[in-house]
Amino acid sequence: MAEVDTLVKEQGASAETQSKEEAPANTPSLEELQAELVAREKRIADLEAVSSETAQARKLVEERLSGMQQQLDAALAKYRGVLLASSPDVPESMVQGMLQLIFELEQLLCSITGMPAFTLQPAAGAQGELTGIKIIAAYHQRKHRNRPVILIPDSAHGTNPASAALSGFSVVQLKSAANGRIDLNELKSKLNKEVAAIMLTNPNTLGLFERDIQAICALMHEQDALVYMDGANMNALLGIARPGDMGVDILQLNLHKTFSTPHGGGGPGSGPVGVAKSLEQFLPVPRVKKTAKGFIWDEKASRFTVGRVHGFYGNVGMLVRAYTYIRTLGREGLERASQTAIINANYIKARLKEVFPVAFNEHCMHEFVATAKQLKQQGVTAMDVAKRLLDYGFYAPTVYFPLIVEEALMIEPTETESKETLDLFVEALLSIAKEAKTDAELVRGAPHRMSVCRLDEVKAAREPNLKWSPAHHMEQVAG
Ligand SMILES: Cc1ncc(COP(=O)(O)O)c(C=O)c1O
Repeated sequence: MAEVDTLVKEQGASAETQSKEEAPANTPSLEELQAELVAREKRIADLEAVSSETAQARKLVEERLSGMQQQLDAALAKYRGVLLASSPDVPESMVQGMLQLIFELEQLLCSITGMPAFTLQPAAGAQGELTGIKIIAAYHQRKHRNRPVILIPDSAHGTNPASAALSGFSVVQLKSAANGRIDLNELKSKLNKEVAAIMLTNPNTLGLFERDIQAICALMHEQDALVYMDGANMNALLGIARPGDMGVDILQLNLHKTFSTPHGGGGPGSGPVGVAKSLEQFLPVPRVKKTAKGFIWDEKASRFTVGRVHGFYGNVGMLVRAYTYIRTLGREGLERASQTAIINANYIKARLKEVFPVAFNEHCMHEFVATAKQLKQQGVTAMDVAKRLLDYGFYAPTVYFPLIVEEALMIEPTETESKETLDLFVEALLSIAKEAKTDAELVRGAPHRMSVCRLDEVKAAREPNLKWSPAHHMEQVAG
């Protein structure tokens, strides 16, 4: 604003000086300059009004955020004492608050997903999948029949086939339809008496809602085969649609993705599994039960239990976090979170469409998968783009997944980012695309501003160097 003021004063001063002298040809008259001055003053006043509106809006948002933070702190304070005092070996009578939290979180998840019963024991999405698959195996075993096959779409997350194979099932892949979704004809052609279940993700990993989900469930149930839904993308559905209502039999959630931990943030996870009523008796034990004398661990809660899947009761800290998040936001807040995640993803998708188009061009849910194949001409890959994003200060998105999209960049902004951040992210990607044309080497050699530059990823995974040493650090910085 100060710069604008100086400009206006200079213009005024020079206009005065000129009026005293003979005006050279093509020089604006004093009247024109005065009119210009008035127009500029009006623009400045307009700008000031906008800036004060922005400040007011910012203040409002800050107040709301601080209100939410206070609620969160209060809820945490209530449970902090319980947490600090807790050890998995403490008698039930001393951890009634924690048992109540587990009991209530199970109920909250039932109501959010429409699944009648939950275990909170699995400590990650993948472990939830494994638990679900064990339940599928136990279900068919109890019916004394051999069902060795699990159907999985080709867009699935890698942990899906891994969980099925680890449990001794053969995986039969379903080729996606031209619209990126499960192809009903393909499903019908692969569905037979050997099939134990289908393992699908909804919305799928392309960020597309499986619109035929009810028809898929009906087809599977006709064969007494089960429907497993990978619910890691549940942050697109909160308050909008419930897997239980769609006919899903088993569902895992990624609490660390959907309920308060940004994806990719690292740290411990939690992968609760929800089941249909007919499968409740297969859930892991113990389960928390409410009795007249208080809450207890019930080791006999499930008659045909698949057993324990984790020491004690999973990552309890994550349960406290998810519980606090859900109670703080409430039903409307959760719905708003999903709506915001969906709008954010569609906004970025629309802004990037010329340079990073999507393979399946439709409205997406909370994420979309763009392709970086336009940059291939310059020898720049999706991996290079992801690495260069680090230089721009952004956590890199998942790349090369799902496998059915060439040079895939999976973009999942979640509900937490402001429009300002989304714009910066888009501008960073567009700027990287320009760099690819003008200085491809810069992008191919990225990151340049990290303490550790481009790694040999396979070597780094096989021979991790987790010790910090000044000499090594200097070497890396020097490139
Ligand atoms: C669709 C999907 N399924 C499963 C998983 C596995 O979850 P986790 O990393 O907690 O094991 C993820 C993780 O990102 C995922 O996106």
